[in-house]
Amino acid sequence: MIQMSSTSKTKLGVLASGTGSNLEAIMKSCQKKEYPAYVGVVISDHKDAPALKKAIAHNIPGVFLNSKLFESREAYDQMLLATLKQYQVDLVILAGFMRILSPIFVQAFPKRILNIHPALLPQFRGSHAVQDVLKAGLTETGCTVHFVDEGVDTGPVILQAKVSILKNDTEETLHQRIKEKEHILYPKAIFEVIKSLK
Ligand code: GAR
Repeated sequence: MIQMSSTSKTKLGVLASGTGSNLEAIMKSCQKKEYPAYVGVVISDHKDAPALKKAIAHNIPGVFLNSKLFESREAYDQMLLATLKQYQVDLVILAGFMRILSPIFVQAFPKRILNIHPALLPQFRGSHAVQDVLKAGLTETGCTVHFVDEGVDTGPVILQAKVSILKNDTEETLHQRIKEKEHILYPKAIFEVIKSLK
């Protein structure tokens, strides 16, 4: 259950596969006295994910769950769920977690799983969004925080921010500018969701 008291903070479980720059932005927001959440655990499917190191540097438990040890997506997701429950997490935050979650997982946290995506959904779903946006030759893109449902990048949008595409942008330069917006958008969206639940 989400914490309903106005004094207690909401416990976040962050799932991250990679760099963890969004995780870092969230942890930074959580350091502010008035921010209504704290990160209780970070879980990664990559043993050497910088996100895990960042969590540990902030004295937050970092857990590696090796998908190779599980025979199916569902079996892995059951272990993810068990770990999140062990840490008594209220909200699940996907921050660059590059796995599709099974219905078992999504149903266990209804309207309690958030994701960030580097495009203006519903356009450019999937794992190559920045590359696909560049190929489409547009002048504007952005990022989206949304609730996770059983589809891929299909859940209800919470917040979006726009980013201009420059003439000489590469995937790296564009993604970097999108991430700068993400780092502001994600903590704000988490705040809004918690406020709406209290
Ligand atoms: C972010 O740009 C996020 O939007 C994207 O992965 C990056 C993670 O960066 N997520 C997806 O593409 C999900 N489909 P980070 O590890 O530095 O936070």
